[in-house]
Amino acid sequence: MKKIIITGGAGFIGSHVVRRFVKNYPDYTIINLDKLTYAGNLANLKDIEHSPNYRFVKGDIVDLEFINNLFEQEQPDAVIHLAAESHVDRSITNPLEFVMTNVVGTVNLLNAAKNIWKGQYDKKRFYHVSTDEVYGTLGDTDMFTEQTAYDPHSPYSASKASSDHFVRAYYDTYGLGTVISNCSNNYGSYHFPEKLIPLAINNIKQGKAVPVYGKGENVRDWLWVEDHARAIDVIFHKAAAGSTYNIGGHNEWKNIDLIKLLCSILDKKLGREAGESAKLITYVTDRAGHDLRYAIDAAKLKNELGWEPSITFEEGLEKTVDWYLTNEQWLNDVTSGHYQDYYNEQYTNR
Ligand code: NAD
Ligand code: TYD
Repeated sequence: MKKIIITGGAGFIGSHVVRRFVKNYPDYTIINLDKLTYAGNLANLKDIEHSPNYRFVKGDIVDLEFINNLFEQEQPDAVIHLAAESHVDRSITNPLEFVMTNVVGTVNLLNAAKNIWKGQYDKKRFYHVSTDEVYGTLGDTDMFTEQTAYDPHSPYSASKASSDHFVRAYYDTYGLGTVISNCSNNYGSYHFPEKLIPLAINNIKQGKAVPVYGKGENVRDWLWVEDHARAIDVIFHKAAAGSTYNIGGHNEWKNIDLIKLLCSILDKKLGREAGESAKLITYVTDRAGHDLRYAIDAAKLKNELGWEPSITFEEGLEKTVDWYLTNEQWLNDVTSGHYQDYYNEQYTNR
């Protein structure tokens, strides 16, 4: 019997991780700890919200007293930490928020875990979910491995890099049972439509401009979110304390090629003439400090723990587009901001 606090479980990736653990491990108690920022949406977990092994707790990981009390009360055996400010563009306009949640929040959790586990780290686990963006940007052919030196450029990636360093410091200094994974760009259902893929799907569907930053030459390595959740499951259960794994899709796409592919998928699904949706592509001013290319070498994860992506990008993208076309209500609630009173209001006074 394990009790796991999963932070950020109402967000995009966190909701897939919570769902997977609640469904696959009925013996575990899963506590979803989330502040419900603009990115947190309990509608993402509607299908499992009444499961007997699931509980939601509204709270801010930056609030030290709250976190210490929660850990004292709940005595979790493990933490899977996904709560974060996650959007690069927002980090450019408000870096401090990223330092607070991503750095201070992470250190609060590490400290709370250390305080209750009191040096007995054998069967305990602190799993920190991070990004490949900590490694910086690549040339044309190289790839990020677990040995690549950190070289973050955006306030988002700098804050995530800092949090990774603190997690390693807690392993090196106190022996806390930490594990880190650094994953490439995710896509799939419940993705907040400020990020490229859901934003493009939504805008194409509505006949609105699809903004392409700069020349659209930047490359991202896309992974289906459910494959990421499965990788987290495998690493959580099998990795040695103190270890790090890269997770990626071996699936590099230039932004402009990806957007053109989405346009052609949506032309077919919406019964438009071929080339109709591509007319919405609009080149806009580039993002400041825009990293050119990310690509993950996930060989360590494959060789040591046997994980590989389960579906191709074409399959995953098709599923994703279908999900957004079918779940119009979710998308409308999110774009209107409605979801924040609708599903989350019952927790506003806690
Ligand atoms: P998201 O923005 O969709 O969700 C973040 C969640 O964290 C939200 O539910 C939000 O309410 C919660 N949260 C934010 N601040 C909080 C606070 N102070 N206290 C408690 N909860 C708070 O993010 P995501 O895309 O699901 O990313 C999840 C994690 O995975 C992040 O740590 C991110 O760095 C990492 N990651 C994301 C990607 C990606 O492609 N999205 C890739 C690799 C790694
Ligand atoms: P994003 O989804 O924000 O993820 P990240 O910045 O973490 O990689 O952006 C993915 C890529 O798409 C990135 O190179 C920036 C670019 N982009 C656009 O061209 N237009 C957009 O409207 C957005 C949101 C992103």
